[in-house]
Amino acid sequence: MLHPKGAVATQRLFFALWPEPALQQRLAQAAAVLLPRDSGRRVRAENLHCTLVFLGAVEAAQRLCLEDAASLVRAEPFTLTLDRFGYFRGPQVAWLGCTATPEALRALVVGLSTGTASCGFPPEQRPYAVHLTVARKLNADPGRLPFLPVDWPVKQFALMESVSDADGVHYRPLRFWDL
Ligand code: 2AM
Repeated sequence: MLHPKGAVATQRLFFALWPEPALQQRLAQAAAVLLPRDSGRRVRAENLHCTLVFLGAVEAAQRLCLEDAASLVRAEPFTLTLDRFGYFRGPQVAWLGCTATPEALRALVVGLSTGTASCGFPPEQRPYAVHLTVARKLNADPGRLPFLPVDWPVKQFALMESVSDADGVHYRPLRFWDL
C-alpha cells in the first residue's frame, strides 16, 4: 500500500467474535423489529460483530506481536445468549447484549487484554460490557423492548480489520483462533 513518505503504514484492527453469515442475518432481523424506522443508521448484517478488544492503528511488527499473544490465550467455547436490547447514550448506539456474561467470555477478554497490553496497547479502563452494535447515530433511547433471545455458539475468535471506503466501513477477518 502506498503511503506518504516517512509515514508508517498501519491497519485499524480489533479482536472480535464474528458471527457466521446466517447468524448475522438472524441478528439483523431481530434488530430490525426493535429499531425505530425513522432514525439512526442500522449496521448492515454483514458488519454485525461483537468486539472483544479494540486496538486502533496497528503497525506490521505490532500485528505479529498481537497474533503471537492471541495464540497463547486459552479459553473454553461458550454460548452467548443475546437476550438484551439496550442503548448507550454517550456514543448514541443501540445494541444487543446479554443478561449474563459467560465466564469463558470474561476469561477470553482478560487473556486477550493481557496479551495486547504486553504488545504496548493500553488496556481498556471501563469494565467489559458485551454488546453487538446494531445501530448508530440514534439520538433517542428506543427503550427496553423484549425480543426472542438468540443463542450464539461461539467456538472461535478473530483478529479483524476495519476498512473504510466510499461505500462506508467494512470489517474483514484476518485470522481466526479456535477456543
Ligand atoms: P462499538 O460497536 O461499540 O462502536 C470496530 O470499529 C469495532 O471496534 C466496533 O465494534 C466498535 O465498538 C469498536 N471500537 C471502535 N472504536 C473504539 C474505541 N475507541 N474504543 C473501544 N472500542 C472501539
